[in-house]
Amino acid sequence: HPHLLGLAGLQPWEISFLLDEAERWVDLGRSGAVKKADVLHGLTVINAFFENSTRTLLSFEIAGKRLGADVVNMHVAQSSVKKGETLIDTAMTLNAMRADALVIRHMSSGAVALIADKVDCPVLNAGDGWHEHPTQGLLDALTIRRRKGRLDGLIVAICGDIRHSRVARSNMIGLATMGAQVRVAGPATLVPQEVELLGAQRFTRIEDALDGADVVMMLRLQNERMDGTFIPSAREFHALFGLTATRLALAKPDALVMHPGPMNRGVEIDSAIADDPERSAITEQVEMGVAVRMACLDVLTRKARGAEGWA
Ligand code: CP
Repeated sequence: HPHLLGLAGLQPWEISFLLDEAERWVDLGRSGAVKKADVLHGLTVINAFFENSTRTLLSFEIAGKRLGADVVNMHVAQSSVKKGETLIDTAMTLNAMRADALVIRHMSSGAVALIADKVDCPVLNAGDGWHEHPTQGLLDALTIRRRKGRLDGLIVAICGDIRHSRVARSNMIGLATMGAQVRVAGPATLVPQEVELLGAQRFTRIEDALDGADVVMMLRLQNERMDGTFIPSAREFHALFGLTATRLALAKPDALVMHPGPMNRGVEIDSAIADDPERSAITEQVEMGVAVRMACLDVLTRKARGAEGWA
């Protein structure tokens, strides 16, 4: 079965194809009428989230339902994971229920790939540890492409806690694949040198990364993943790296402001910027998340459904 475990290894045409497929679903979501298609009618999608989520879990659930699938959410806190069942045994149990797609979020990098190896249906990575969050990378690319008309040649500055961010990794990989010039910036302890291997330019002053940028993407400090890393306090972080009107003025006059959420207002981003309808694409990112997840569920199940259109 085809899986979506990351954007690494995808060709530019494959990313473009998924974005084009997602475009088809945007209008359905905006219609005041019944928001339903029957593409996945009769199929079962299981969401198994071992880590908290608002946007990704709900948008995968809405995406599956808008396509006509039966969507079931496994509630990890109330599951037998709490009785010591292993990840693999849990995956084999879900597999035995004959799901047609599994959507998995896990706190460990590589856990989703481990499950994909064991089951008989497509697996979609909804975020694994520090590794990848491919549907987030796709929804960000779609948001940028719709607002700017292209990805190729754009300067995209990703700022904040890069080290712990699967969103940053998927964006670095996806946007570089599509020909964008990616810059990353944050405190030195939170921006590993390895970003250069992914084609990104590394900065430790946000001002340098913002200079002339077309897109500014802000990320929160992932305090739950710090494991002893030296980090600034929220106040210091805002003083040195927070997106303020003064700093945003360094980017292009029409630079787009993005944030994957959840936001910490007044820390990595000022509220006035996050809420500015001209500059901020934050709510549009959420909307594109549903369309992208509809496209991914559709495309990844095509082979099993005997439908055309996946590599
Ligand atoms: N952007 C994102 O993954 O948000 P959630 O953690 O709320 O799903």
